[in-house]
Amino acid sequence: MRMSRRVENLPPYLFVEISKKIAEKEAKGEEVISFGIGDPDIPTPPNVVDRLCQTAQDPANHRYPETAGLPELRRAIAEWYKSRFGVSLDANSEVLPLIGSKEGIAHIALCFIDYGDIALVPDPAYPVYSIGTMLAGGRPYYMPLTEGNNFLPDLDAIPAHVLRRAKLLWISYPNNPTGAVADLDFFNRAVKFARQHDLAICHDGAYSEVAFDGYQPVSFMQADGAKEVGVEFHSLSKSYNMTGWRIGMVVGNAAMVDALGRVKSNLDSGIPQAIQYAAIEALTGPQDCVQEHNAIYQRRRDLVIDMLNNIGLEVRPPKAGFYIWVRVPEGYTSVEFATELLEKFGVVVTPGVGYGKNGEGYIRLSLTVPDAGLVKGLSRLAGWRRTRKQSKDK
Ligand SMILES: Cc1ncc(COP(=O)(O)O)c(C=O)c1O
Repeated sequence: MRMSRRVENLPPYLFVEISKKIAEKEAKGEEVISFGIGDPDIPTPPNVVDRLCQTAQDPANHRYPETAGLPELRRAIAEWYKSRFGVSLDANSEVLPLIGSKEGIAHIALCFIDYGDIALVPDPAYPVYSIGTMLAGGRPYYMPLTEGNNFLPDLDAIPAHVLRRAKLLWISYPNNPTGAVADLDFFNRAVKFARQHDLAICHDGAYSEVAFDGYQPVSFMQADGAKEVGVEFHSLSKSYNMTGWRIGMVVGNAAMVDALGRVKSNLDSGIPQAIQYAAIEALTGPQDCVQEHNAIYQRRRDLVIDMLNNIGLEVRPPKAGFYIWVRVPEGYTSVEFATELLEKFGVVVTPGVGYGKNGEGYIRLSLTVPDAGLVKGLSRLAGWRRTRKQSKDK
């Protein structure tokens, strides 16, 4: 049997490796506390689950769904964009529901990337932008996100020969893993840049609803001319604790939405309709849950930041998203530090290098840890300073 080079060159998905390590520890009877994956621990709001259960009883929802999604869902998405961001979308041509945004993020590469084409991808970043590019036969060109540039890509630093072969520009704010945010001015500049260089923009806005201290993230779709050059991926996963149901959306440029719809209609058979009804309930029902969840994450954020500061680690408190991006102590790589925390303290954090070369020197902590685990995890991490101090004192 000979696998394709495409698969042979595919790195293992970051969190699969981490889950394996956790399973190994747990098999030995050790309790592991994971600040690893960003998967909300808070349940889906009960009205959403009720709608799912009700609609699952209806035989009309037991059959193949349409790839384009229920018209009611597309309308609910368009109305949500209007009320949340003031953005008008045509529910028929500018909205497409997805089986979670990851699916669309990976598949859109097939709409743009031919062999040898380039996608401009931030580094560090959610790995699927570059994996999708590579699976389509293309090459990612990595745009460094650094503290020096507030974790925004320096578009003017991209060489002309790269731009000639580049077709897609990936951006994502509020950002995973760095916790950085972008304002409308950055999105306006990105649109201008895309026009100048004939690029399509894919903005990933998965975390736009997770925000703190009264801050309200903007949507890329609010930028002047955004719809002419790009789309925004969004998700119900993080806003409504629906990671397990697998539902997201892409909105914006009609030609891009149509192209992705054509690819998908040949690959998948849509989203189970009961889940689509649950999504309609989430988007059109009471929205108080969003602020309630944010209050929980904000409290956790403050606890984590206090503890990290106490043990002498440098931290920028994020305005949005549920990740804390932390510089590792001197003398460690991100993998060494994450390994030490797992081996000695049973605490999982994600090594920054898993998100790209420029993630080296950082670890990421997710705030999606239930309160009891969070407190225990933090007291274990506090132990890190003690052992380090003792070994220094020796
Ligand atoms: C930046 C970013 N985009 C997209 C996703 C995918 O979310 P989903 O496929 O659940 O919609 C994630 C998941 O962690 C993410 O961090």
